[in-house]
Amino acid sequence: MTDLNKTFYIKTYGCQMNELDSEIIIGQLEKGGWTPSISEEDASLFIFNTCAVRDLAEQKVIGKVGELLKRKKNHQIIGIMGCMAATQKESLFRKFPHLDFVLGPNNLMDLLPALDNLFLQKKHLIKTDKNFFENIDYTQIKRKSPLNASVSIIRGCNKFCSYCVVPHTRGKEVSRPPQSIIDECKQLVDNGYKEILLLGQNVNSYGKDTPASHCYFPDLLAKLDAIPGLLRIRFMTSHPIDISLDLMHAIRDLPSVCEFVHFPIQSASNRILQKMHRMYSKELYMEKVSLLTSIVPNVQIGTDIIIGFPTETEEEFLETYSLFNTIRYSAAFIFAYSPRPNTFAYLKYPDDVPHEIKQQRLQSMLALHKKIHEEDSQKKVGKILEVLVEKTTDDGTLLKGRTRTWDKVLFPGSPSLIGTLQKITIENFAHQTLLGKNL
Ligand code: 5AD
Ligand code: SF4
Repeated sequence: MTDLNKTFYIKTYGCQMNELDSEIIIGQLEKGGWTPSISEEDASLFIFNTCAVRDLAEQKVIGKVGELLKRKKNHQIIGIMGCMAATQKESLFRKFPHLDFVLGPNNLMDLLPALDNLFLQKKHLIKTDKNFFENIDYTQIKRKSPLNASVSIIRGCNKFCSYCVVPHTRGKEVSRPPQSIIDECKQLVDNGYKEILLLGQNVNSYGKDTPASHCYFPDLLAKLDAIPGLLRIRFMTSHPIDISLDLMHAIRDLPSVCEFVHFPIQSASNRILQKMHRMYSKELYMEKVSLLTSIVPNVQIGTDIIIGFPTETEEEFLETYSLFNTIRYSAAFIFAYSPRPNTFAYLKYPDDVPHEIKQQRLQSMLALHKKIHEEDSQKKVGKILEVLVEKTTDDGTLLKGRTRTWDKVLFPGSPSLIGTLQKITIENFAHQTLLGKNL
């Protein structure tokens, strides 16, 4: 293949860690002399960076890969990366005989050597390491945004919630050395970045696998808060059991750490929580939320909820519904349970809540979320909120940004304000977005 047609197209599914992984992959490809292709059709390399968390995400990929392979041109290379690579491994080649390579989420740095090998005519290349090994070139990430950057601080998960495939695909927790994170964040700020989102399957486990570094998550936050020019730090995601008093104090005391905590409950029924292996009760969860709201003024809380976990009764669903109504989450990702092969729940519990019941419960939870969001947006009308201006709307008429607590805001103003903090008076809201004007 000549340099002239070294063009790639990457399609990303799933979570923010996957989005970041794609930015890492693109950085590697560009380092290797590849350039992005405008159209899917013309790309000589097509990569699917996949998700295996729910069946729907997998089915979407399977459909799209099949479609692309039917039209595959001779010189084209097609590969599957991400979590599906780790769950389905060699079976992907049986399903798709013309697929060229499969690389797992712990094999990002193997991409360029894999492509070299493919040019030497080796077919069906596969590498899916069970655990993460710290070898990422953080200096070569090709980021989408010039202002907001995601930075991975810990990869993998040791929790083994019974429904979740992630510990099986990404392996055990591996914390990144603090200095490497600090160096990357300083570099980002020097390059004009204003907001950093610290990523991990469970950021609150940070440092527990490397006790010699004496740097746990709240310590890391303090070190990053000290970087001059870094306006905002966010983090995602947390396991409630690991949300500590130290973390709550860090959110309260460190100016750049935003007052938003993703605090996924999954279910509010103690019987279901036990079957999910979540390690907390509804009461402990509520205690932690009360502590957080009393320690951190104006904190907002987000959640993930799984509807229709095996054996969930209507009463148990209503417990979750009622807790949602009590906590009034400002952000929520609500999913119908999807059995994932080889997880504990898949092996032990039949998926016995009928599809229609799951859908009914899902719709009523989504409706509650919408109602609460609208009521809480109404309460924000008249308030003055600090917004980090990120970009203009697609039609260029308004500026777009977020508050510290993750609310989207639109307001009229000059594009020269992009990258600055503005005090915005909220006047109205529509479609989950606050509408305001500059003071
Ligand atoms: N079915 C439905 N939702 C799931 N999640 C993880 N595994 C499953 C599953 N098998 C959800 C959880 C998790 C989020 C990332 O995805 O709510 O917090
Ligand atoms: Fe999955 Fe639970 Fe780990 Fe989150 S904490 S990634 S839900 S196993």
